[in-house]
Order: sequence, then C-alpha cells, then structure tokens
Amino acid sequence: MPQIIDGKAISAQIKDEVKEQVAALSEQGKKVCLAVIQVGNDPASSVYVGNKKKACAYVGIESLAYELAEETTQEELLSLIGELNAKNEVNGILVQLPLPKHIDEDAVIRAIAPKKDVDGFHPQSVGALCIGQPGFVSCTPAGIIQLLKRSGIEIAGKECVVVGRSNIVGKPMALLLLRENGTVTVAHSRTRNLKEVTKRADILVVAVGKPRMITRDYVKEGAVVIDVGIHRNENNKLCGDVDYEDVAPVCSAITPVPGGVGPMTIAMLMYNCANAGEGNGL
Ligand code: GUN
Repeated sequence: MPQIIDGKAISAQIKDEVKEQVAALSEQGKKVCLAVIQVGNDPASSVYVGNKKKACAYVGIESLAYELAEETTQEELLSLIGELNAKNEVNGILVQLPLPKHIDEDAVIRAIAPKKDVDGFHPQSVGALCIGQPGFVSCTPAGIIQLLKRSGIEIAGKECVVVGRSNIVGKPMALLLLRENGTVTVAHSRTRNLKEVTKRADILVVAVGKPRMITRDYVKEGAVVIDVGIHRNENNKLCGDVDYEDVAPVCSAITPVPGGVGPMTIAMLMYNCANAGEGNGL
C-alpha cells in the first residue's frame, strides 16, 4: 500500500512552528495582526473564515473580522482596504473570495498592498514568484510543496504534471515545482490525450474540480498523487478529484480527502502572516 501523506499532522506541525515564531516576535514587542474581510454571507465562505480566525487564535495572531453586507459597493470595499493598507498594526489583509458579482475581484486584489498580500494573489506577488524573487505565495500550492518535502519526496529532476491552470492553484503550483527543479507540464481541459500526459508524471497534482475524475488509468505505477479537489459524493461523503480507492494501490504516495491538501492552506496562511509580521514578503 502507498504512503498516505498526512496533511493533518504536517499542518499541525507547521502551525506549531508558526506559534513559536509569533511568540518570539511578541517578545520583541511585535504583534502580528490579520484583517479578514468577508462580503455577504456565502455559507462555505463563512466556514473558511471561521477556520482562519480559529487558526489565528491558536498561533497567537490577532484577527480583525470585517463582515460586510452583500450590498457593499466596490468603492466602499476599496476604501476599507486603503485604510487597512495604511494601518501599521495590520500586517496581513485577506479578502475572502468569491466576492458578489457587482464587485471586480481583480481590482480588489490589486488594491491590497503587496507587503500585506498574505494570500499571494496580487499580480506583484505572482510576478515575483515567476521570476524567483521574494513575495508571498498562494497558500494551497505552497502547502503542497511542504507536504512533499516533509514526506521525504524529492522534486528535483522529477516529471511533474499539474492538471488545472487556475490562478490560485494550477499556475502557482507549476511555478513552485519549477522553482524546486522539477520538469513541469501543465495540463487542462483542452489538453489532448490527457491520460498519456498524466501517465508521464512522477508527481501528479490534480486540481480540476471534478469528483473522482482521475482513475488508475491516468496514473503511472509508483507515482506520487496529490489531490486538491474537495467534493461531496452521492452519499454526502467527502471525496477528491482522484478516485482514491482505485488509484491508491498503484501509487507510491497519495493525499487522502479529507486530511491531505485541505488543512495545509490555512497552515500556510498562518506562515505567510507570521512572515508579514517579520516584515518579510515570502
Ligand atoms: N476562496 C477559496 N479559497 C480561498 C483562499 O485561499 N483565499 C481567499 N481569500 N479566498 C478563497
């Protein structure tokens, strides 16, 4: 049976490291503070925001919650971000996505000061990642690199295939694997012969948003399989983009859903916030 990559344990370890880093900052008289903005009350977003606040409390980061009405205008939101950019005591700013349709997400992301962009979504952060300069990195792909490294999986020289090209996961994932000296292919919905491409992978990262799409015929024997998807199946049980039962017997390591990639996103957000508190854009 494959190695089961334990995202719960690895995320707990990272949060404990961040907790120590935040305590050391506090001894130097530096507090770390994250502003979390939610517009409207999408139930999934409310759960994510609640979990982010809980993680802040655990590691000793102060969280300021801004729960704005669905009707909030773009100007009002941009003006709040401007105020938070100017506040020295606020180290990180996070605007929970998705935003209501009348608000331009790109304009909102661009308004966040890059040194406070703990989500790593600002074009400057993405550009810095692309050319190997310091900047915040999107939390889910950064968490996947930690999962691989802390599970003793070498990336350098490996064939890495990322399925999915979103700005939040697929693209930064490809750039991070490249930074780690992987040989990287990005596949997507228009890729021809997808199975042939994914079968080349030593490390296969799947972020397609389709429940259990990746079966064993997409996977090379002995590959490492990372599943970014999270869905509910017909029995209301959580499942990923990978058909775990089918794929697990043929791979060397795999992330389960839940308990794989999921818990890493918030751990890496805490990591980014602590580094914002240090004055580092990592
Ligand atoms: N919505 C879904 N994932 C994320 C995330 O990582 N950050 C923010 N701000 N919103 C999200």
